Amino acid sequence: MKTSDDTLTLRRPDDWHIHFRDGAHLAAVVPYTARQFGRALAMPNLKPPMTTTAALADYRTRILAAVPTGLAFEPMLTLYLTDATTPEEIQRASGAGFVVGAKLYPAGATTHSDAGVTSIDKVWGALEAMAEHGLVLQVHGEVTEPGVDVFDREQAFIDRVLSRVVDRIPALKVVFEHITTRVAAQFVRASRKGVAATVTPQHLLLNRNAIFEGGIRPHHYCLPVLKREQDREALVEAATSDDPRFFLGTDSAPHAKHAKEAPCGCAGIFSAHAAIELYAEVFDQAGRLERLESFASERGADFDGRARNRGTITLRRERWTVPESYEYGPGSERLVPFRAGGTLAWRLVDAA
Ligand code: NCD
Ligand code: ZN
Repeated sequence: MKTSDDTLTLRRPDDWHIHFRDGAHLAAVVPYTARQFGRALAMPNLKPPMTTTAALADYRTRILAAVPTGLAFEPMLTLYLTDATTPEEIQRASGAGFVVGAKLYPAGATTHSDAGVTSIDKVWGALEAMAEHGLVLQVHGEVTEPGVDVFDREQAFIDRVLSRVVDRIPALKVVFEHITTRVAAQFVRASRKGVAATVTPQHLLLNRNAIFEGGIRPHHYCLPVLKREQDREALVEAATSDDPRFFLGTDSAPHAKHAKEAPCGCAGIFSAHAAIELYAEVFDQAGRLERLESFASERGADFDGRARNRGTITLRRERWTVPESYEYGPGSERLVPFRAGGTLAWRLVDAA
């Protein structure tokens, strides 16, 4: 990585957690990711959910068709795990080459998770098969019991589910997705080899006050929900440390403006328009810019046993104003991005 006072050139990064959606929405958002990242792991929570390797193969083709000409971008896929996922399907997924893992959504935990796993006891066979065939488990780590406070769901998931998975199948690689708490960061740090976590820009930059700042702020609502300032600080410490277990996953999750600004607004923050710039701001503020490349471009690839990307991207320290909204498909739908109308301190100026 090369840094000067006002530019930063790093190995082309990967995004280990992205929502691309489908159809016109897919076409609208893929270019934002493809211009900065070499690869991205596309989440399978579509309607219908991507529960088969065959469905993922078709989805991959549709993603590739949305990549602007001239950009070398490679989508990676993950199978949507259900109570009914068979070891045969896991084997097929592993053989496909472009499927890096399977995603565990506890049923009811988040957007389009109704087909998700109803109990961990239903999927031990599939998890064993994943360990055998080298697929990584990506986990949305929240319990869904109505009696558990929404701010405590991640910790309860660690205690009731995740620690059991990690202990019972020692050969299974596990990525604890979009961690939000100090407790989660500690759990990952203290875990056996083969356990890692992704961290989003919003959980590094905002605490839960941002949801209620002067009124209800639907564009700061995502799942897992933002947490306390102490949690945010612990995540910044983890991401900007030299611990290889913490790496980049934006969880950029686009929803149309009207679906966010509604009586029952959707969960998800769109950050792909400025993902690497947002992370650069975090690392800069922490005085750890020199660790950005490791977090963004090395640790995730190393964890998955994939080659690091060859190209580079360059950021310049230059203030710019994020648009209030972007086009979202061919109709009149709009997409409100993270930091809409606000300024960013870094700007992506080149990709090679
Ligand atoms: C995601 C989405 O909209 O698909 N929403 C979110 O708030 N992060 C789903 C998810 O990753 O939980
Ligand atoms: Zn997500």
